[in-house]
Amino acid sequence: MKITEVTFVRGAVKPQDYPQNGYPEIAFVGRSNVGKSSLINSLLGSQKVARTSNTPGRTQQINFFLINQQWHFVDLPGYGYARVSKQVRRQLQYMIQNYLAQRDALMLSILLVDSRHLPSELDLQAKLWFEQRAKPFLVVLTKSDKLSNNELRNQLIKIKAALGTEQVIPYSTVTGLGKDALWSTILSHLAL
Ligand code: GTP
Ligand code: MG
Repeated sequence: MKITEVTFVRGAVKPQDYPQNGYPEIAFVGRSNVGKSSLINSLLGSQKVARTSNTPGRTQQINFFLINQQWHFVDLPGYGYARVSKQVRRQLQYMIQNYLAQRDALMLSILLVDSRHLPSELDLQAKLWFEQRAKPFLVVLTKSDKLSNNELRNQLIKIKAALGTEQVIPYSTVTGLGKDALWSTILSHLAL
């Protein structure tokens, strides 16, 4: 996919703040620090569109990026970050679920899971949440460059079994693994 233009539209915390321009959206969902912002930058071939950080829990709003004047990438806050108060965690969870449940423009949610670990309880809940509401979603395994080919093969089998889905794409922002496969799935859902 040739990216010609990327603009940060806005950060929103409530539905009234969401952009109302009707562009189709792809959302990136996953626990804090799993690599959501890095994945967006990698897909766009840019270093600095979505802010990344070694400190988990930095993104506390819903960030909308307009790509090629045609669609939005939506960077959601991470879930499950332990070092914020219970109340903040509840607010973030509410913000995320509200967006995912109600946004008509949402075409596909990309659920990110760390390739080095089995899905957490919260990852499994997220996947169940999408299934129960019949929301289109796809699992991307992040940071796969941190595993050997053998380890990755084994993790892929285990994670697919744990999630009960074959719709899993291993990804690395370092090697570019998974980029073409992910783009073709994204484009098929955008139906531009
Ligand atoms: P929050 O906004 O806090 O929810 O985090 P996030 O999910 O947006 O994670 P972010 O993209 O900020 O990445 C967290 C850390 O993981 C950063 O240090 C990234 O450089 C690193 N990272 C992300 N993807 C990859 C990858 O594919 N390979 C490697 N080696 N590191 C990665
Ligand atoms: Mg982030």
